[in-house]
Amino acid sequence: MRRVIFNQKGGVGKSTITCNLAAVSAARGLRTLVVDLDPQGNASHYLLGAAATDATNHLADLFEQVLNVSMFAKPANAFVHASPFENLSVLPSSPRLADLEDKLEARYKIYKLKSTLEELESEFDRIYIDTPPALNFYTRSALIAADRCLIPFDCDAFSHQALYNLLANVKELQEDHNADLQVEGIIVNQFQPRATLPRQLVETLAQDGLPVLPAYLGSSVIVRESHQLAKPLIQLDPKHKLTQAYVALYECLEQNG
Ligand SMILES: Nc1ncnc2c1ncn2[C@@H]1O[C@H](COP(=O)(O)OP(=O)(O)OP(=O)(O)O)[C@@H](O)[C@H]1O
Ligand SMILES: [Mg+2]
Repeated sequence: MRRVIFNQKGGVGKSTITCNLAAVSAARGLRTLVVDLDPQGNASHYLLGAAATDATNHLADLFEQVLNVSMFAKPANAFVHASPFENLSVLPSSPRLADLEDKLEARYKIYKLKSTLEELESEFDRIYIDTPPALNFYTRSALIAADRCLIPFDCDAFSHQALYNLLANVKELQEDHNADLQVEGIIVNQFQPRATLPRQLVETLAQDGLPVLPAYLGSSVIVRESHQLAKPLIQLDPKHKLTQAYVALYECLEQNG
């Protein structure tokens, strides 16, 4: 199963959600891979800590290999890094990914991520793909490579309007490139149950028939601590309310199959 976490708006929680759902999956014993397609590398740093910067064989090296076709190409798993957490691996990003984007696009490499992940499919039970805040070559590659799409929503009025546009973009991509892609649902993030506006926005989405997932993620300062310590919530504090919300979300997704 290959899930892409996508929203072209910045800061809605894509990287945090990718890494924490993946960490729950790994803690449940599933062999789990996080693919970081964002040149910012936030997911890589979250799961690998300082090792993300030191590491060689980043995703950018894999893509460079694609551009410089050679008989001595390394297999995709040469670019996979084990994280400190059992069953959890990362295909890490680096700023170099941004430099390669135009070249990859000019050479029509939009299906390369898909074939790379197909190559890794026998080694992983679950693959989670983090994307940059844009609808660009990398996010399109991810939407083509995945079979499920999760859309974080940060309960903001601007995000609400952008969501309809985003869903139209996903639909177009489904029609043109990936009939297997399912919009698995909208993840309500940083939800404040006592504030009126977020509640109204979420209700409107549901009334409009959008697939809002029933397990909402609240807001907590533990997220910052978790990033700083490079430790996903399930490792940092399994009993925390937000961790439990992540577990509930994970279970809801797995039950929907
Ligand atoms: N549930 C939460 N509670 C509190 N803070 C959160 C929560 N989820 C995310 N954040 C904070 O929101 C910010 C953005 O989160 P994150 O980096 O995961 O978003 P993103 O969509 O990946 O951003 P970008 O578009 O830049 O890649 C971070 O500072 C993070 O700490
Ligand atoms: Mg991010």
